[in-house]
Amino acid sequence: MNRFDTVQQELRAQPKKWLITGCAGFIGSNLLETLLKLDQSVVGLDSFATGHQCNLDEVREIVGAERWSRFNFIEGDIRDVAACRAAVAGVDYVLHQAALGSVPRSVKDPLTTNDVNISGFLNMLDAARNANVSSFVYAASSSTYGDHPGLPKFEDRIGNPLSPYAVTKYVNELYASVFARCYGFKAIGLRYFNVFGKRQDPHGAYAAVIPKWIAAMLANEDVMINGDGDTSRDFCFVENAVQANLLAATTAEENKDEVYNVAVGDMTTLNELLGHLQSVLASHGVVYDKAAVYRAFREGDVRHSQADIGKVSQRLGYAPTHPIRSGIETAMPWYLSNRLN
Ligand SMILES: NC(=O)c1ccc[n+]([C@@H]2O[C@H](COP(=O)([O-])OP(=O)(O)OC[C@H]3O[C@@H](n4cnc5c(N)ncnc54)[C@H](O)[C@@H]3O)[C@@H](O)[C@H]2O)c1
Repeated sequence: MNRFDTVQQELRAQPKKWLITGCAGFIGSNLLETLLKLDQSVVGLDSFATGHQCNLDEVREIVGAERWSRFNFIEGDIRDVAACRAAVAGVDYVLHQAALGSVPRSVKDPLTTNDVNISGFLNMLDAARNANVSSFVYAASSSTYGDHPGLPKFEDRIGNPLSPYAVTKYVNELYASVFARCYGFKAIGLRYFNVFGKRQDPHGAYAAVIPKWIAAMLANEDVMINGDGDTSRDFCFVENAVQANLLAATTAEENKDEVYNVAVGDMTTLNELLGHLQSVLASHGVVYDKAAVYRAFREGDVRHSQADIGKVSQRLGYAPTHPIRSGIETAMPWYLSNRLN
C-alpha cells in the first residue's frame, strides 16, 4: 500500500477538521470534494473573488447531503483578520489556497495581488499559528523559479522572479520559513506547476491555458498561442495536487518549513498540448482542425518549466497518478457537459 492509501485509510478511521481557504475555486473545490468523500469535517473560507458558488453546488451534488452537512462555509476575505481567526478555530489542518492567481493579472494590478497574496497570506498564517493547528499547507508556485535556467527545477535552486505574482508566492515561502524558525510553526509550501482539471474556470481574461483552449475549440474559435508554441510546461492534473496536499498536511516529517514541487516531471510544449486536446476531443466526436494563431510572447512568462519530483516523492510518498494525457482524458467529460456547450 502506498502512503496516500494509508493516509486516506487513517483519515477515514479518525476524521479530522480541515480549513480550506479558496474552497470555491478550482483547486480548493477539488480538495473539498476529496475531503468530504473521506468523511472529514471541513470549514471553507472564500470571498468569491474568482471562485464560484456553482463549484460548491457541484461538490454538494457529488458528495450528497450527509457528507455536505460536515461542511461549514464562511464567506469572507483573507485580508480580514477576524474572518481568518473565525475560520481557523478548532481546526487540525489548514490547506491555504486563497490567492489571486495569474501572472498577467499581477502585472496589470500589482497592488491588489500584493494585498491578497502577501497580507492575506500573513493573516492566515498568523491566525493558524495562534490557533495551534497541526500543520499549514499552502499553495506556492513554480513561478518562484523565475529566470533560473536549470531544468528540471530543484526546490533549492531558484532565480529572480519575473512577475509581481511570483514575488508574492516567494514572499509566502519566506514568511513560512520565518514562522518555522521564530515559532516552530509547521508550514509546508507546495509549488504547483500548471494544475488543470474539472472546475478550472475557462472564462475571463485570466483563464488558464487548458480550459481557455478547450472553450475556444468547443466554440470552433481560434486558439491563440503566445510565442512560437515551443514554450513548455509540466502540466499537473488536479488529483495529483490533491494527493500532495493530504500527504503534506499529515506528514510526520520533522522539517517545519519545507517546500515541495508538485507536478509530474514531464515537459509538454504548447504545440503538443494542442495536439492532445485535439485528439481527446476527437475521441468524443468533436473535430477541431483550425490552425493555431501565433502571437507575441507574454510578459512575465517563463520559457520552460519542468519539475524534479524526487524530493516530494521521497519525503512525502507522493506518486502522481495522472500524467498529462490521462488527466486531460479524465477532465474532458466535465468540460463537455458543463457551461461550455
Ligand atoms: N492553478 C494553477 O495552475 C496554480 C499554479 C500555481 C499556484 N496556484 C495557486 O493555487 C491556489 C489556488 O488556485 P486556483 O487555480 O484554484 O485558483 P482559483 O482562482 O480557482 O481559486 C482561488 C480561490 O481563492 C479565492 N480568493 C481569492 N481572493 C480571496 C480573498 N481575498 N479572500 C478569500 N478568498 C479569496 C477565490 O474566490 C477562489 O475561490 C492559488 O493560491 C494559486 O496562486 C495555482
